[in-house]
Amino acid sequence: MEKVAIVTGATGQDGSYLCELLISKGYTVIGTMRRTISEESERLKFLTKIMDNQKFILEDCDIQDASTIHNLIRKYNPIEIYNLAAQSHVGNSFTSPMTTIQINTVGPLNFLEAIKSINPRIRFYQASTSEMFGDNVICPQNENSEFSPVSPYACAKLASHHLVGTYRKAYGIYACSGILFNHESPRRGENFVTRKITKAAARIKLGLQSELRLGNIDAYRDWGYAKDYVVAMWMMLQQDEPDDYLVATGKTTSVRDFMNIVFTEAGLNVDDHLVIDPKFYRPCEVPKLWGDPAKAKRILGWIPKTTFRELAVKMYKSDYKLEKQNV
Ligand code: GDD
Repeated sequence: MEKVAIVTGATGQDGSYLCELLISKGYTVIGTMRRTISEESERLKFLTKIMDNQKFILEDCDIQDASTIHNLIRKYNPIEIYNLAAQSHVGNSFTSPMTTIQINTVGPLNFLEAIKSINPRIRFYQASTSEMFGDNVICPQNENSEFSPVSPYACAKLASHHLVGTYRKAYGIYACSGILFNHESPRRGENFVTRKITKAAARIKLGLQSELRLGNIDAYRDWGYAKDYVVAMWMMLQQDEPDDYLVATGKTTSVRDFMNIVFTEAGLNVDDHLVIDPKFYRPCEVPKLWGDPAKAKRILGWIPKTTFRELAVKMYKSDYKLEKQNV
C-alpha cells in the first residue's frame, strides 16, 4: 500500500529535512507551503534535492483555512500528517500576536478537527516547543516540568499542545506533540540568532560587513541539529501508542558560547565586532532551556548525533561558502 504523508511548512528548515527523510523511507510526500510570489524561489531552495522526485508533491495550503485542509486530506488520503508550519519567531510574536495565534493554534486545531471528521486513523505530529517552559528555570526540563510561557508564541504553542492531548484523550486520535528544544542547521532562517551569527562571522571574515548587532547574549539554550531532530518526529508516529516526547541534547550553552566558537573558528575576535543593540531585546526573555531527552531515548531509541561545536562549525563553514560567492 502506498504510504502518503503530509508535511506542512515543507519549505522551512525542519520541513525540508523531514520531507527528505520520509522520501528516503519510501513515502509519497505532500509538502505544503503558503505561496507568496515574491519569496517563492527563495523559499524553495532547500527542496532542490527532492523537487523533481516523483514521490514529492508541493501544494499551496494556508493552515488557517479549514476547508483547504479538508480538501487536502480528502485528495491525498495520508496515513501521517506532520504540522510544522508556524509563525516560529518568538520575537516577532510580540509584534504580531494575532497572526501567531491564528497560525500556531487555529492551524493545528483545523487539522485535529479534520482528522476527527474525515479519518480518525490518520496519525498527527504537532511541533510543540521548549519555549512553553518559558521562565521556569528548574532544569533540566522534562515532559513533566511546569509550563510557564512568556511570549504570545509560547502561549499559542501551549494551547495547541493541550489541544493535541485533548483530542488524543477525547477521540482516541493518534496525535503526538514533539517538545523540541532549539534546533539549528545551515538551513536555519537568517533572523534566528545562530544563523545571524554564522552569517555575520562569514561576512566579516570576507570583508563584507564589520559589525554583528545582537540583543541578549546571556540566554542559555539546548541547541541541537535539525536534521537529527526530524528523525525523532518520524519515530513518534511509529509507536504502538501516541504520546508526547521532549527532544533535546541534554546540554545547555549560551548565545555567547555559540558566538565564541564561531568567531574562533573564523579566526576573529568577537569584541572587535559585537554591538549590543537594545532593539533585539524582547519584552520578556526565556533565560534558560535545558532538556532531558531520557524518555525519547528510552522509548523511541532516539539520540542526538551532532555536538554543539560540530553544529556551530558546520553552520559557519556553510555560510562562508555561500558568502564567498558574493565576493
Ligand atoms: N533572533 C535573535 N536575534 N535572537 C537573539 C538576538 C538577535 O539578534 N540577540 C540575542 N538573541 C537571543 C534571543 O533573545 C534568545 O534568547 C536567543 O538569542 C535565541 O533566539 P532565537 O534564535 O530567535 O530562538 P528562540 O530560542 O527564541 O526560539 C527558537 O527555539 C524555539 C525552541 O526553544 C525558535 O526556533 C522557536 O520557533 C522554537 O520553538
